[in-house]
Amino acid sequence: MIQYFRFYTIITVIFCFLNISSAQTDRAIEDKITTLLAKMTIEEKIGQMTQFSAPVDSFIDLIRAGLVGSILNLTGAERVNAIQKIAVEESRLGIPLINGRDVIHGFRTIFPIPLGETATWSPDFVKEAARIAAREASASGVHWTFAPMVDIARDARWGRISEGAGEDTYMGKIMAAARVKGFQGEKLSDPETIAACVKHFAAYGAAEAGKDYNTVDISERTLREVYLPPFKAGIDAGAATLMCSFNEISGVPSSGNKFLLTDILRSEWAFKGFVVSDWQSVTEMINHGNVADTLEAALLAAEAGVDTEMVSGSYNKFLVQAVKNGQFPEEKINEMVRRILRVKFQLGLFDNPYTDSNREKTELLSDQNRRFAREISAKAIVLLKNENEILPLKKNLKSIALIGPLADNQLDPLGCWFCNGRADELVSVLQGFKNKIVYGTKINYVKGCEIKGEEEPDLQEAVKAAMNADVAVCVVGESFDMSGEAGSRARLGLPGRQLDLIKTVYETGVPVVVVLMNGRPLAIPWIAENIPAILETWHLGTECGNAIADVIFGDVNPGGKLPASFPRAVGQEPLYYNHKNTGRPPVQKTRFITRYYDMPVEPLFPFGYGLSYTTFEFSDLQISKPEIKIGEELKVGVVVKNTGMVKGDEVVQLYIRDLKGSVTRPVKELRGFKRITLEPGESKKIDFTVGKNELSFYDINLNYVVEPGEFHIWIGPNSTEGLHGRFQVVKGQ
Ligand code: NOJ
Repeated sequence: MIQYFRFYTIITVIFCFLNISSAQTDRAIEDKITTLLAKMTIEEKIGQMTQFSAPVDSFIDLIRAGLVGSILNLTGAERVNAIQKIAVEESRLGIPLINGRDVIHGFRTIFPIPLGETATWSPDFVKEAARIAAREASASGVHWTFAPMVDIARDARWGRISEGAGEDTYMGKIMAAARVKGFQGEKLSDPETIAACVKHFAAYGAAEAGKDYNTVDISERTLREVYLPPFKAGIDAGAATLMCSFNEISGVPSSGNKFLLTDILRSEWAFKGFVVSDWQSVTEMINHGNVADTLEAALLAAEAGVDTEMVSGSYNKFLVQAVKNGQFPEEKINEMVRRILRVKFQLGLFDNPYTDSNREKTELLSDQNRRFAREISAKAIVLLKNENEILPLKKNLKSIALIGPLADNQLDPLGCWFCNGRADELVSVLQGFKNKIVYGTKINYVKGCEIKGEEEPDLQEAVKAAMNADVAVCVVGESFDMSGEAGSRARLGLPGRQLDLIKTVYETGVPVVVVLMNGRPLAIPWIAENIPAILETWHLGTECGNAIADVIFGDVNPGGKLPASFPRAVGQEPLYYNHKNTGRPPVQKTRFITRYYDMPVEPLFPFGYGLSYTTFEFSDLQISKPEIKIGEELKVGVVVKNTGMVKGDEVVQLYIRDLKGSVTRPVKELRGFKRITLEPGESKKIDFTVGKNELSFYDINLNYVVEPGEFHIWIGPNSTEGLHGRFQVVKGQ
């Protein structure tokens, strides 16, 4: 007891000390900013709020005059240092620049696209990927990444689904926090960390018809319940900055949206970092039609709470005059500049504005980074089907036909936003297969057709290769630019003639494995029905081919799970597992229910789905109490056993349903998950805690509460299977 007390006291003293010293640092920073602000002209203040993109030649004189606060898209320690020198040594006040870049899934070593990283269901791996990306980017002079993208995406047509954590809000929160912590490390002043930027605030992924930049019309309830929580999670994890989105919400573009950028962000969430606009999004309000000209756009954005204006120069052209003639208050400008300078101080840029150029040599694409890329890439692969245990392939096959436009492709598997990644450094699938060959297996590679384009391909070579092989592996999917920004698609099948290619190979009678590479869920009903083995590999990045070969030849047992539902047809979109029940759920067999006339309502592959080379059994669902009071917690647990012959990973998923609320509740909501590894025959008990965090929602008055009533839970391997139980929540006394 005494020992416990001593331990507790020591810990408390350490915490108090840390708190006091961080408060002192904060105070010191605020004092320095106050001193600096007092010296700044209004032009220099607005300069801090202005951002331009490399190449820098056209605005170098503005940097010299102290009229630019940040730049983007400049990399290379020496190049960045040279520009920084101009800001620090030649401008009047020597305020350092902050240099931003879209470091989305790796800097030079490219990891799986964020959707693919999420398919690992491993926040620790996702955090480490961001950590490595930060080390590489910072070595190359980057101080700030425009990531993580935390937009929830329920519509696979929207190309930017590839850049985030998929359709689920709970998952979005976990991955947002993991990525922010990975980028920012323990403290921003560490030269190996970079500032994070949660984006795009807000509801950008809810664009009508999945068209990028399109209109969003959304209730405040859905906004708060579905789209905002990952932003809050990123901010709570310490994100230094936030980017607003291109879209309007119910008539108000985000760049001029005071409700979002001030009322929610500052007043409710007390966010202390700075807000950057998206690329020209301030002046794009003229196109949206809520401002008449650039002056109005700049005034509205500044008034709403955009601190830094990205590239259109609207602040730099108009705000100075607006302040001078009393159209905009200087105190407000001071607050905004304070937020920007605060991040610069936190990053340590005033103490050391330069990047140690030696780090670039050791950090970028190091063997260690490549090894990690291979590991996370293999973890991201989802086995969608494996009839007759076609996979893993034996290493002593005589011959393999490797077919398809992505099989010997070093560019497209880099995925969207591949930053400083290079195609010539990417391991193709063909190379990955060659690296695995030990028993002289012959690999017949045939491209077969292009990724896109309707031109009739000559499929004879593919047929010949397949007929002479023990197995055909078809590597098909999307090009890197078919997802990401402006990568919306109205069709969700395989593009071009790739399906014809697969069908032709299938008709030879040789067993076929389909390896998919894509930036979004695809609608592949024919493949799902006819092809015995299917692997979803996303766009995996630099180590793509090695990771795919690891899985195909069984050195790694796949354990990834889908972070977004795969549709049967594009007409099912938007498609997400946590939908509402409606008054006519599709459970009865009558005509007048929530269904499609021409196809099932269920997805082709559901959220959370993925197979393994082994099998798992879930048993012994335990719920610690049949009833809890509001505010109390209970434990739920299950035993998971590896019932197959090889070691493997299972993701144990907890879903909850609140049966009746003051407003309707989704049919299921993810509230916990754990990726575990089990040896053959091994069992593990997996527990989750259920309490306020798992049960609260926005009630009829938009208060975030737990309501009494019956709750259902499921613990299982995906969102449609699992052991089912129930418990009651009653009012406390
Ligand atoms: C536009 C994109 O929407 C945003 O995500 C990105 O960070 C900026 N361009 C800067 O490249």
